[in-house]
Amino acid sequence: MTRITLAQGDITRQSVDAIVNAANSSLLGGGGVDGAIHRRGGPAILADCRRLRASHYGKGLPTGQAVATTAGDLDARWVIHTVGPVHSQSLDRSELLASCYRESLRRADELGARTVAFPAISTGIYGWPMDDGARIAVETVRDADTAVEEVRFVLFDEQAYEAFARQL
Ligand code: AR6
Repeated sequence: MTRITLAQGDITRQSVDAIVNAANSSLLGGGGVDGAIHRRGGPAILADCRRLRASHYGKGLPTGQAVATTAGDLDARWVIHTVGPVHSQSLDRSELLASCYRESLRRADELGARTVAFPAISTGIYGWPMDDGARIAVETVRDADTAVEEVRFVLFDEQAYEAFARQL
């Protein structure tokens, strides 16, 4: 049974086996969580990402999928990069957002990670409303078939923390 916990703050400071990155399909960095992870984790993460692009994802990592790299200088052992959907008013992309959580937990299981920290995927630059993003995150992790012992949602601000707390 996976324990779900909440923390407020910067995900790059978490001591867990794996940190999930809200990346984009290029895997080559960006703003938000992605920028923070590459800044603090150092160049080893980007080097791994470039290798993955060259070997498996010439066109980029598709939305809803996840891949693992080293965590470089971070406390964690691995970074799991996943690509959230951009929020749309006209198209329901919820299943892609749920897939990010499920696929990240699959990679965590393959690695043997026991503790995994997630940000609120897609709720920043990709525009997903926080309450709905929190609902999908919590429901998907609750229903996931995984050996991960703790999933920690790390929320940047109080409003995000409260949204996740309501779902729990
Ligand atoms: N720790 C925890 N949460 C954070 C941090 C942090 N250090 N920084 C931001 N957040 P975002 P997305 C929160 O924009 O919406 C990048 O450019 C933030 O407040 O990081 O999936 C990628 O390269 C928000 O609630 O990711 C992509 O192009 C949540 O993390 C694009 O942004 C996600 O915000 C992905 O957009």
